[in-house]
Amino acid sequence: MVKIAPSLLSSDFGRLFEETRRCERAGAAYIHFDVMDGAFVPNLTFGAGVIAACRPASQLVFDVHLMMNRPDRYLDDFLKAGSDIVTVHVESPCDINVTLARIRAAGRKPGITLRPGTSLETLEPHFRSVDLVLVMSVEPGFGGQSFIPGALERIRSIAARRAELGLAFEIEVDGGIDDRTGPMCVDVGADVLVSGNHLFRQASLDDAVQNLKTLCHGDR
Ligand code: DX5
Ligand code: ZN
Repeated sequence: MVKIAPSLLSSDFGRLFEETRRCERAGAAYIHFDVMDGAFVPNLTFGAGVIAACRPASQLVFDVHLMMNRPDRYLDDFLKAGSDIVTVHVESPCDINVTLARIRAAGRKPGITLRPGTSLETLEPHFRSVDLVLVMSVEPGFGGQSFIPGALERIRSIAARRAELGLAFEIEVDGGIDDRTGPMCVDVGADVLVSGNHLFRQASLDDAVQNLKTLCHGDR
């Protein structure tokens, strides 16, 4: 069964606690938090304090995507805030191995991700250290962008590599996911779909999440 991870980036920032609850009620599996530092990406969102404030709203997995130059400097704060999955960019200029190991040592799940233009080979040293590989299907920084079709081939080859290595990390895809692109990603091996703009612009979040799930598994 596909897991849906609504990205709060497209939700009402004035009501993030309620929005977290609303995602849980709608049948989401994860809540996706997009942390941007205004340097690694040209946008600035929120830090660990906001995640901690949302923590009591839901028991769901808090899936934290760190788009930061120095995730290592703030890692302890994100762990204390109650992040369950912490995903770092392979391009971040810090020691990625040490950072992933710190997430693991804290009893949380480490994830690795990469920009759409970064070679998949950069993931190779990290496959055995992570519980999640996030394929970016847009350039990180903003919600509401169009899905980059090349992500499909990347998902397919990561899924093949996972099988070759006998590993079990989840494959998540992030950017431009809607009722058309979501099922395409699941068909080639994605386990988790992040979706922001598509879900939150609809009148009913419940219907939006349910439809996306059904389309990924029903007859097409
Ligand atoms: C982009 C973020 C995504 C984004 C997805 O930098 O990582 O999580 O919010 O939003 P949509 O679904 O609107 O493309
Ligand atoms: Zn994200």
